Amino acid sequence: MFSAPLQEASVILKMKPLFIHVVFFSAVIAEIRPNFNYETRQLRANDFRDAEVTFGNISTAPKVYQGPECKIQSGDSEWPSESLWARFNTSVNGTLLKPHPVALACYPQTDYYSKDTCSYLVNNASSTRFFLDDPVNSLTTWAQGGSCLQMLDTTGRTCNQQGTPTYVVNASSVAHIQAAVNFARNHNLRLVIKGTGHDFHAKSSGSGSLSVWTHFLKSMTYLCRSSLRDYTGPVVRIGAGVEAWEAYNFMLAKNITFAAPLEASVGHGGGWTLGGGHGPLTSLCGLGADQVLSINVVTADGRFLTADGTQNQDLFYALRGGGGGTFGIVTSFIVRAWDKPTFIGGLTYYFTTGPNAANIAMPSDRGYPATPAVYISDPEIFWKAFSTYLNFTTKIVDAGGFGFGDPSPQGKDTYLFASTIAIPNLSAEDTISFAKPLFESYASLGINITTTPQTASVPYAKPGNGITTVGFPGAIDRIFISRLLPRTLWTEASAGNSTRLDLVAKAIRKSVETGIYKVNTRAYAPTTKAAGEWNDQYTPAVNPAMRKMVIHCTTFTNDVVTLQSKKELLETHKRLSASGVADLRKLTPESGAYFNEADRLEPDWQKSFWSTVGYSRLLGIKKKYDPWALFWASNTVGSEDWELRPGLGEGVMPTQDGRVCRAKRGVVGREG
Ligand SMILES: Cc1cc2nc3c(=O)[nH]c(=O)nc-3n(C[C@H](O)[C@H](O)[C@H](O)COP(=O)(O)OP(=O)(O)OC[C@H]3O[C@@H](n4cnc5c(N)ncnc54)[C@H](O)[C@@H]3O)c2cc1C
Ligand SMILES: *[C@@H]1O[C@H](CO)[C@@H](O)[C@H](O)[C@H]1NC(C)=O
Ligand SMILES: *[C@@H]1O[C@H](CO)[C@@H](O)[C@H](O)[C@H]1NC(C)=O
Ligand SMILES: *[C@@H]1O[C@H](CO)[C@@H](O)[C@H](O)[C@H]1NC(C)=O
Ligand SMILES: *[C@@H]1O[C@H](CO)[C@@H](O)[C@H](O)[C@H]1NC(C)=O
Ligand SMILES: *[C@@H]1O[C@H](CO)[C@@H](O)[C@H](O)[C@H]1NC(C)=O
Ligand SMILES: *[C@@H]1O[C@H](CO)[C@@H](O)[C@H](O)[C@H]1NC(C)=O
Ligand SMILES: *[C@@H]1O[C@H](CO)[C@@H](O)[C@H](O)[C@H]1NC(C)=O
Ligand SMILES: *[C@@H]1O[C@H](CO)[C@@H](O)[C@H](O)[C@H]1NC(C)=O
Ligand SMILES: *[C@@H]1O[C@H](CO)[C@@H](O)[C@H](O)[C@H]1NC(C)=O
Ligand SMILES: *[C@@H]1O[C@H](CO)[C@@H](O)[C@H](O)[C@H]1NC(C)=O
Repeated sequence: MFSAPLQEASVILKMKPLFIHVVFFSAVIAEIRPNFNYETRQLRANDFRDAEVTFGNISTAPKVYQGPECKIQSGDSEWPSESLWARFNTSVNGTLLKPHPVALACYPQTDYYSKDTCSYLVNNASSTRFFLDDPVNSLTTWAQGGSCLQMLDTTGRTCNQQGTPTYVVNASSVAHIQAAVNFARNHNLRLVIKGTGHDFHAKSSGSGSLSVWTHFLKSMTYLCRSSLRDYTGPVVRIGAGVEAWEAYNFMLAKNITFAAPLEASVGHGGGWTLGGGHGPLTSLCGLGADQVLSINVVTADGRFLTADGTQNQDLFYALRGGGGGTFGIVTSFIVRAWDKPTFIGGLTYYFTTGPNAANIAMPSDRGYPATPAVYISDPEIFWKAFSTYLNFTTKIVDAGGFGFGDPSPQGKDTYLFASTIAIPNLSAEDTISFAKPLFESYASLGINITTTPQTASVPYAKPGNGITTVGFPGAIDRIFISRLLPRTLWTEASAGNSTRLDLVAKAIRKSVETGIYKVNTRAYAPTTKAAGEWNDQYTPAVNPAMRKMVIHCTTFTNDVVTLQSKKELLETHKRLSASGVADLRKLTPESGAYFNEADRLEPDWQKSFWSTVGYSRLLGIKKKYDPWALFWASNTVGSEDWELRPGLGEGVMPTQDGRVCRAKRGVVGREG
C-alpha cells in the first residue's frame, strides 16, 4: 500500500551529517535574527550526530511528491521503533512526551480509570487552566473525532487515541523544533503543530501523529524604538506560545498597546496571527497579521530563518494571513506597538421577545456592565430593531470600534438580542453619546434602552489569569458556517437601495426562527487604511474580502453536537447549509469567509479564504518551501492534494481521527 520513503530523505541519510550541516549554516546563518534565547539554541554541529534529524534540501527535493500514499502514523510498519523514538528523544533534550487523552480517567476498562479525576474533568477542570495546558487536548472535540470524551457515564462508549497525536515534542528551543521537523520529514510521519488547541477544526491534532507543541515559548519583550520595513517606532517581540491574556498583562505592565485577540486564551503567537486575527483594535489598526514586521520560522527542510521585508519576502507574505500549520512552525513575531495604553469605552444591552423571555439567562456582559433586558411584545418590532442595529454597524467600525449583535432562540418563539458596542479611545460618557442615534432609533420603535455611564476599559486595561468563561472543551462543540458581509451592502443602503441589507437581515431572522440556530454578528473593519497602507511588497496574504468587510457573521447550531456520530454531523451540517446561511452566501457573491472561524466544509474554500489570485500565489509559495507536503492540515493551502479517510465520500464528516492520504482525483465531494 505504501511506496518507498522519499528519495530525498534516503539520499540524505547516506551522507555525512556533519558535512551537510556546515554547508547549510555557512550559507544562511547571517540572515537569522533570534528574538529570544530559545531561538539561539539551534541545531548545531555538536548536536548533529544523528542522521535521523538530517536537514532536507528544497533545491534537490523531487518537484512532484514521491512519498508514500498515506502519511505514516503509529501502528504502521514504517512507524519508527521504540528505540528510534528514544534516540530522537535525546535529540530533543528529553522533551518528548507520550501523553494519553486525559479523559481515559472516565473509562473503567482502562488502567487510568479514576472516578475522582473524571469528576474533576467533567465538573471543575473547565474553570481552570487544565485543558488549556494539556499537550493533546482539542477544545472542539467533534472535529478531533470525539475519540475520548470526558463524561461521568461512559457506558457503551470507548476511549481511544485515534484523534490525538502519539508523541509530542514539548518544545523549549528552536533546535527541538528543527529536530522534530527533520525526523518527521525523514520518516514521512503525520506532523501537527499545536499552540493552544483552539482550532475549530482540531487542525492542531491528528491521528497517530508527532506533534510540535509551542505552548511554552512564552517570551515577550518591548523595544520603545525599532526600524523595520518602512516602520520606525515601538515594537514588541512575541513568542509563539503567548496567549491573549498574557499579551494584555504585558501591555499593562509596560503601559503600552498592541493588537491582540479578544478571547483570553487564544494563541496570539500562533494560529490567530497566522490566519488573520481580529480583536478589539481591528477597526483601528487592522488584523493581527497587519501588525507583523518580522517572523522567525522553522521551514519544512528544518531550516530556521527570518522572514521580513528584506529576506524571504514570499514567506513573509504567506505567513501573514495564509494560515497556520501550512508554511512552517513559527517561533516568534515582531509586531508594531504604541507607547501608550488604550482605553476602550463600551456598553452592553439586551432586548428580548416571546413567551419565555422572563426566564432567559443573560450571556456574559463581556466586561461592559449591561442594563436589564428590554422586553418587546411584538416580534416584528424585535426584528426591526435588529435591522436598525445592522444598519448602524458601519458607524461603529468607522469610529474604530467593534460591535457584537447576536440574535438567538431561547425556547418556544422566544428570542434574545445581545449587543456590545465598544470604541477605543472614547470615555464611557462619550461612548453613550456615540450610541445615542442608535438608541433614538430604538426609541422610535418603542424600545427604551437606558445606559448609565461606565468606566469600562476591558480587555485592554484589565489583568487576566487566562481562565475563560467559555467552558472548554465541549461548549464550542457546535457546527457553524460564517460569512463576511461586505460594505457594499451598506453603501447600497445609504444610496437608497437597502434591498440586499434587508435580505441579509431576513436571512439571519430565518435561521434564528428555526429555533435551532443562533447568529453572532461581529462588526470589525480591517480596511487597508486601518492596516496602515504598507507598500505593495509588504501586502500580507490576508483575505481581500476582509478588507471590505463590516461584519463577520456566524450561524451556529444552538445545541452542542458532541455526541453526534460522524454521519449525523454531516446531516447536521447539510441542514445548516440550507438555512439562512445559504441566502447569505447567495446575497454576497463578492465576499468570502474568515479562515480561522469558518465552515469545516466551506465550498470553494480556496477562493473564499484568499481569493483566486491570492490562493494561486500562496500555493506557489507552499510548493516552493514544502515540496514534501510535510505540513498538512484540512483546508489549508495545498491541502487539496490530500484527504482524510474516511471522509465525505463515505457519507461522514471528515475528522482528525482519520488517516491522511493522497486525494483520489476526480471523486466528487472530497475535501482538502
Ligand atoms: C473560544 C474561541 C475564541 C476565539 N476568539 C477569536 C478572536 O477573538 N479573534 C480571532 O481572530 N479568532 C478567534 N478565534 C479563532 C482563533 O483565531 C483560531 O482558532 C486560531 O487558529 C487559534 O490559534 P491557536 O494557535 O490558539 O490554536 P491551535 O489550535 O493551537 O492552532 C491553530 C492552527 O494554527 C497552527 N499553529 C499554531 N501555532 C503555530 C505556529 N507556531 N506555527 C505554525 N502554525 C501554528 C496549528 O497547527 C493549527 O492549524 C477563537 C477561537 C475560539 C475557540
Ligand atoms: C542543496 O543542494 C544543492 C544542489 O546539490 C547544493 O548546491 C546546496 O548547497 C544544498 N543546500 C543545502 C542547504 O544543503
Ligand atoms: C524522554 O526523555 C526524558 C528524559 O530522559 C524522559 O523523562 C521522558 O520520559 C522521555 N520521553 C519518552 C516518550 O520516553
Ligand atoms: C467541582 O464541581 C462540583 C460540582 O459542580 C462542585 O460541587 C465542587 O465544589 C467543585 N470543586 C471545586 C474545587 O471547585
Ligand atoms: C513542557 O515544558 C515546560 C517548560 O518548557 C514545562 O514547564 C512543562 O511542565 C512541560 N509540560 C509537560 C507536560 O511536560
Ligand atoms: C539541552 O539542555 C541543556 C541543559 O538544560 C541546555 O544547556 C541546552 O541548551 C539544551 N539544548 C537544546 C538544543 O535545547
Ligand atoms: C502610562 O502612560 C500614560 C499615557 O502615556 C501616562 O499618563 C501614565 O503616567 C503612564 N503610567 C505609568 C504607570 O507609567
Ligand atoms: C440606515 O442608516 C442610514 C445612515 O447611515 C440612514 O440614513 C437610514 O435611514 C438608515 N436606514 C434604516 C432603515 O434605519
Ligand atoms: C488615543 O488618543 C490619543 C490622544 O488623542 C492618541 O495619542 C492615541 O494614538 C489614540 N490611541 C489610539 C489607539 O488610537
Ligand atoms: C424610558 O426609561 C426611562 C428610565 O427608566 C424613563 O424615565 C422613561 O420614562 C422611559 N420612557 C419611556 C417612553 O418608556
Ligand atoms: C437594488 O439592489 C438590488 C440588489 O443589488 C438590485 O437587484 C436592484 O436592481 C437594485 N434596485 C435599484 C432600484 O437600484
